[in-house]
Amino acid sequence: MKNILLLSLALLSAIGSLASIAQDGEAVYKKHCSHCHSPGMNYPGTHQLTKTRGEGNGVLVERDNLVDVYVKTIVRNGLNGMPTFKPTQISESQLDALAEFLSN
Ligand code: HEC
Repeated sequence: MKNILLLSLALLSAIGSLASIAQDGEAVYKKHCSHCHSPGMNYPGTHQLTKTRGEGNGVLVERDNLVDVYVKTIVRNGLNGMPTFKPTQISESQLDALAEFLSN
């Protein structure tokens, strides 16, 4: 009986740590991107994208035409006024979650 209890506890804590490994794309976005890409022309990303990509393409989170691999490429390489983000700033798994959150 005691062994079963210990086993259940071990399983529960394993599930708990697995869940914390899965990255939250929205949280990564809020930390690294929203201060330039939130709705409003005073955000440089939104301002620039509205000018270059057109009215409906200014706000990243409202777009349905962003492809996962494109988001990842821009984040790692930057684009004009947009800075690059190294793996020490945004890890591969965080980037996966972020691209998943923003794409389509
Ligand atoms: C310092 C401000 C700034 C930050 C921080 C920033 N961006 Fe940008 N981003 C820009 C600007 C400005 C552009 C427009 C570049 C251009 O087209 O000249 C842009 C463009 C983009 C594009 C290209 C969209 C298109 O239609 O081609 C993507 C994708 C993008 N940003 C994603 C992100 C993500 C994801 C993050 C967070 C990791 C982020 N950006 C953080 C300023 C920023």
